[in-house]
Amino acid sequence: MVKDLVRNIIAFPSAFFNKIRLRIHGVSIGIGSVVKGKIYIVNKGKITIGDNCIINGRNKYDPIGCGEGCTLVTEKNGNICIGSKCGISNAAIYSRASICIGDRVLLGGGVKIYDTDFHSIEHIWRGTVEDKLHACSESVNIGNDVFIGAGVTILKGVTIGDRAVVGAGAVVTKDILADEIWAGNPAIKIR
Ligand SMILES: CC(C)(COP(=O)(O)OP(=O)(O)OC[C@H]1O[C@@H](n2cnc3c(N)ncnc32)[C@H](O)[C@@H]1OP(=O)(O)O)[C@@H](O)C(=O)NCCC(=O)NCCS
Repeated sequence: MVKDLVRNIIAFPSAFFNKIRLRIHGVSIGIGSVVKGKIYIVNKGKITIGDNCIINGRNKYDPIGCGEGCTLVTEKNGNICIGSKCGISNAAIYSRASICIGDRVLLGGGVKIYDTDFHSIEHIWRGTVEDKLHACSESVNIGNDVFIGAGVTILKGVTIGDRAVVGAGAVVTKDILADEIWAGNPAIKIR
């Protein structure tokens, strides 16, 4: 109890300045949500964070490794929507299309969620101004009460059902149904 109080007092300046930074970047942040440590934000689309979320950047606020900080990036027309009561540690979420995350979702350290390939798979476009136009982008949807383990990468077009679990280090390329547990690279259902 006392430890929590001390921790909150120490984190207060970081949380305060991050809230101001998020607002400057046009991020809508809900009541009771706290962003501690390092967060990198580019918002050319729309970013919404629900109520009572905890977002931690750097090892000081989440000492499980992968402490590079959090990244929230939307390109023009991109959309990141994070529900309420989510916990996010040192994760990178990058949107060109749309990434929707439900309520009470946990994203472990070093998670990456991309709704785009960033580059064309046809080599002729890469290194040209048209590379981006030929890169495939598709929405990602994550349901409520989902637990994503540390170091997971979720790729474009994936839908993850409510209460699903994704094991540490997985690369998710296919949809996961509600209540299933998936792991591995590429991720497969383990339960
Ligand atoms: C997915 C997870 C929850 C499953 O835990 P569990 O129910 O105790 O599963 P088990 O350890 O019994 O493993 C079941 C099978 O899945 C495999 N498995 C479990 N986790 C795996 C993973 N991350 N990657 C690949 N295979 C995995 C096991 O090897 C085992 O395979 P087998 O049946 O062939 O022996 C757990 O392994 C995990 O990855 N936890 C995430 C921890 C984490 O990152 N926390 C976030 C910190 S911020």
